[in-house]
Amino acid sequence: MILSHIVAIDQKNGIGKNNNLLISIPEDMKHFRETTKGKIMIMGRKTYDSLGKPLPGRYHIVISRQPLKSELPIVKYVSSLDEAIKAAQSLVSEWPKEVFIIGGAEIYKQSLSQTDRIYVSKIEKTFDADTFYPDVNWNEFDLEKKIQYETSPRFSFQLYCRKN
Ligand SMILES: NC(=O)c1ccc[n+]([C@@H]2O[C@H](COP(=O)([O-])OP(=O)(O)OC[C@H]3O[C@@H](n4cnc5c(N)ncnc54)[C@H](OP(=O)(O)O)[C@@H]3O)[C@@H](O)[C@H]2O)c1
Repeated sequence: MILSHIVAIDQKNGIGKNNNLLISIPEDMKHFRETTKGKIMIMGRKTYDSLGKPLPGRYHIVISRQPLKSELPIVKYVSSLDEAIKAAQSLVSEWPKEVFIIGGAEIYKQSLSQTDRIYVSKIEKTFDADTFYPDVNWNEFDLEKKIQYETSPRFSFQLYCRKN
């Protein structure tokens, strides 16, 4: 299994405010949809709530300390990151082997040391954020891909892979 983060950060690592995204840039949203389509996604309960509803064609593993249950076949609640990773491992025979951690800050932080790849959209602006992506030692990763988007604000999509 390959464990990947996918995240959009501002110039100060901000990722959210009031349990919402800082900004929704259509090109970045499209990139998120295309990258996670048909994949298993792991997320914290707050990020799941912020989605409003499950995203079609993806399997949602939601981490919570509450004893939550889902009636939906594509949503599973688990009580820890370890349990989330085990649940994903048990599903990878039926799903693609790359599993996406889609946030939020708590789950990014707890899973960073186990992450093989980071798909990061770096937004060239600073927002009044209340939630932040953890500091990454980028020396542990190779930059495999970078695409600059001349949107407003500008952003660049970057793919980092952990060095062997
Ligand atoms: N820019 C981006 O790419 C991006 C991506 C995702 C999210 N976001 C933003 O990030 C913010 C949400 O992030 P967040 O850090 O506040 O919340 P989060 O990580 O999405 O969820 C936190 C919740 O996860 C559960 N949890 C965390 N650690 C756990 C553990 N070890 N064991 C069991 N349960 C655990 C708890 O749920 P319970 O309270 O139910 O126990 C906790 O309240 C929002 O603003 C969102 O829009 C941004």
